[in-house]
Amino acid sequence: MGKCSKDKRDLYYRKAKEQGWRARSAFKLLQLDSEFHLLDDVERVVDLCAAPGSWSQVLSRKLASKSANPATIVSVDLQPIAPLPGVTTLQADITHPSTLTNILKLFGGEPADFVCSDGAPDVTGLHDLDEYIQGQLILSALTLATSLLREGGTFVAKIFRGRDVDLLYSQLALLFDHVTCAKPRSSRASSLEAFVVCQGYRPRPGWQPESLQLKHTLVPLDLNDASIDAAERSVAPFVACGDLSDYDADATYQLEKGVQAVSLEPVQKPTAPPYKTALEKKRAGTLR
Ligand SMILES: C[S@@+](CC[C@H](N)C(=O)[O-])C[C@H]1O[C@@H](n2cnc3c(N)ncnc32)[C@H](O)[C@@H]1O
Repeated sequence: MGKCSKDKRDLYYRKAKEQGWRARSAFKLLQLDSEFHLLDDVERVVDLCAAPGSWSQVLSRKLASKSANPATIVSVDLQPIAPLPGVTTLQADITHPSTLTNILKLFGGEPADFVCSDGAPDVTGLHDLDEYIQGQLILSALTLATSLLREGGTFVAKIFRGRDVDLLYSQLALLFDHVTCAKPRSSRASSLEAFVVCQGYRPRPGWQPESLQLKHTLVPLDLNDASIDAAERSVAPFVACGDLSDYDADATYQLEKGVQAVSLEPVQKPTAPPYKTALEKKRAGTLR
């Protein structure tokens, strides 16, 4: 496969490089923001699962132009994030309890206006396990959000619309005034990926974030299971966002004449890719 082939197969990938974004995911946050105005009146932000940092780039650029005061942006990932202007990076696991303490320290006791998470685990191919780990990531992001957000704040997280997503919606609806399931144009229609946009955080009296639970994520769900009350499930409104005449994320395009042969370099190479050790061994001639 030629180096340009991904540029043709995925125009958002190509456009991200042309516009200086570290990943095509930038377009997802831009499209969510243009629909929901997420970044209006926002000064303190936490970007969870942020590497390589394209959402943090969007946050840094947008908040620098919108906010009168310098914004505080804290970006967290298991992988190191290469430095970005106006962004404090933290290499940490969002499922670990110490991560909350470390983020709180960086905010100097002030609550956040906006918490987002584009978290995705490395896929194992074992469907139930992958779904379970994704569920745990959302749960950790939500636990952090409920501990960090100010009243009225906003939480956005990547979800996969699997069989139990209605249980997640109903739990989110206990904590936020409006819960919407949003699908940006740049997210492939063929993928179950979507984003929950949770607006108007309502801290509940006596709320303990650790009491959050996602039910039935590992075992196959029997929809007739009497232990799951219908009231525990709810449907969130669905919004497709981004210009529908914009590029189709599933389509293959021809590049403009003259640019076919030019493959653009990534804006930021991975800082600690899983194949790093193998590459080092290959260069040293010790790979077996
Ligand atoms: C799709 S990428 C995020 C892309 C990012 N929003 C951007 O725009 O560049 C998913 C990220 O989730 C991170 N991740 C997965 N599990 C994590 C965990 N337990 N704690 C922190 N980050 C995690 C991965 O390291 C990966 O960088």
